[in-house]
Amino acid sequence: MSADRQPIGVIGTGYVGLVTAAGFAELGSDVWCIDIDADKIECLERGEIPIYEPGLQELVARNRERMRFSMDIADALGHARLLFVAVGTPPTYSGDADLSAVQAVVDSIPPSDRHALVMKSTVPVGTGRAIKRVLREQDKDGLRYVSCPEFLKEGTAVADFLEPDRVVIGDDGDWAGDAVAALYAPLDAPLVRTDIASAEMVKLASNAFLATKISFINEIANVCEETGADVIEVAKGMGLDARIGPQFLQAGLGFGGSCFPKDVTALKQLAGNSGYHFQLLNAVIEVNELQKRRVMSKLHKHLGSLVGKRVALLGLAFKPNTDDMREATSLVLSARLQADGAKVVVYDPVAEGEARKLIQGVDFAQSAMECVSGADAVVLVTEWAEFKELDWGTTAEAMSGTLIIDGRNALDAEAITAAGLIYEGIGRTRDGVAKDH
Ligand SMILES: NC(=O)c1ccc[n+]([C@@H]2O[C@H](COP(=O)([O-])OP(=O)(O)OC[C@H]3O[C@@H](n4cnc5c(N)ncnc54)[C@H](O)[C@@H]3O)[C@@H](O)[C@H]2O)c1
Repeated sequence: MSADRQPIGVIGTGYVGLVTAAGFAELGSDVWCIDIDADKIECLERGEIPIYEPGLQELVARNRERMRFSMDIADALGHARLLFVAVGTPPTYSGDADLSAVQAVVDSIPPSDRHALVMKSTVPVGTGRAIKRVLREQDKDGLRYVSCPEFLKEGTAVADFLEPDRVVIGDDGDWAGDAVAALYAPLDAPLVRTDIASAEMVKLASNAFLATKISFINEIANVCEETGADVIEVAKGMGLDARIGPQFLQAGLGFGGSCFPKDVTALKQLAGNSGYHFQLLNAVIEVNELQKRRVMSKLHKHLGSLVGKRVALLGLAFKPNTDDMREATSLVLSARLQADGAKVVVYDPVAEGEARKLIQGVDFAQSAMECVSGADAVVLVTEWAEFKELDWGTTAEAMSGTLIIDGRNALDAEAITAAGLIYEGIGRTRDGVAKDH
């Protein structure tokens, strides 16, 4: 252990927990990593990383002697005062956050006046207050509570941990909030110290705002298609306005993943449960659902009936550089295509294992070229770098048809049309090249 850094515990070693644990280990802390998933703990003890996240393998390997893995929370309690909670909070059927894993962690901690729970999981506003009430009822009010929401993005999670835009800490003004702030101090990031409810809301509001930006540009894209404007040009012109900024202005097939869909819905539910109708978020969610299906009308426009047509989906993960398939657009698309009678062949550089658990009835190709071979149409679903570098001449020869739908506006439209293929982006002029220059 580094002389001035206390050991910490991290409960839940998924995307957030493992990155947080490895990140703090990199900063010099001894970290006790706890999970109820025996396979995951065994895998981590062998030095293997159960998820695909660029740079994480190296970070864990470099700090291996500071990281310990266990299924027994007592190991963390025995060595660490701060227990970071990074368990899942998936949506329930109603759209509210399922807090049963968080509750299980709270219940498993014995009375103590030297420990604090530090909530990294994304939870509804009011969760901290509710947990403190439960702790009082369980005669565990010596336990401190801190909200420290996580903003990392899968695919760049390691860099996001080490160079965060900000660190948000919501606390009751006791030792625990200061201890969390001290842990993050070496990162020299802007620090927002606030109350617990406000910290909880920062997380939900941030994700809801980013999702709103995506749905907004998708609606602009749809209007561009009707009016002859090109959304790439429009987004460039808008994004240079410092009040708007260029990020999350990429039109495409909508957002997915483990966070945006559930967090937007959870905020909408939270507002509704508190008596407020959050109208804007209803539209954000609805636009996103429609956007995922927009490819279907484009396919029908060019191919007519899809019965017996071979449609290749390039990319399955909800975004590049991750194997996370939660709420991925590919899940909706592959089902819709099959319902319309298409033969679906898919390829993803890393997500095949996860995808096989969720997608039935499709052929899994082992390379992009195998995927596009014999296809009547190719749809880019996830903008992995290797798809941007495809040789479109070779692709055109391998395909049966000529239609390329660029669901992420990430491909080289000119190279595609030059190869004799038809290019369709999202919100773009037909061949992807802006006119009237
Ligand atoms: N994934 C992201 O990009 C991201 C970003 C910011 C915030 N978050 C939030 O962080 C939280 C965790 O997300 P994730 O993607 O890392 O989830 P995950 O599903 O990858 O990991 C959760 C882990 O918690 C473990 N777990 C469940 N119950 C447990 C218990 N009682 N004790 C110990 N371990 C337990 C699970 O086995 C799993 O390994 C969620 O609330 C999520 O909304 C996620």
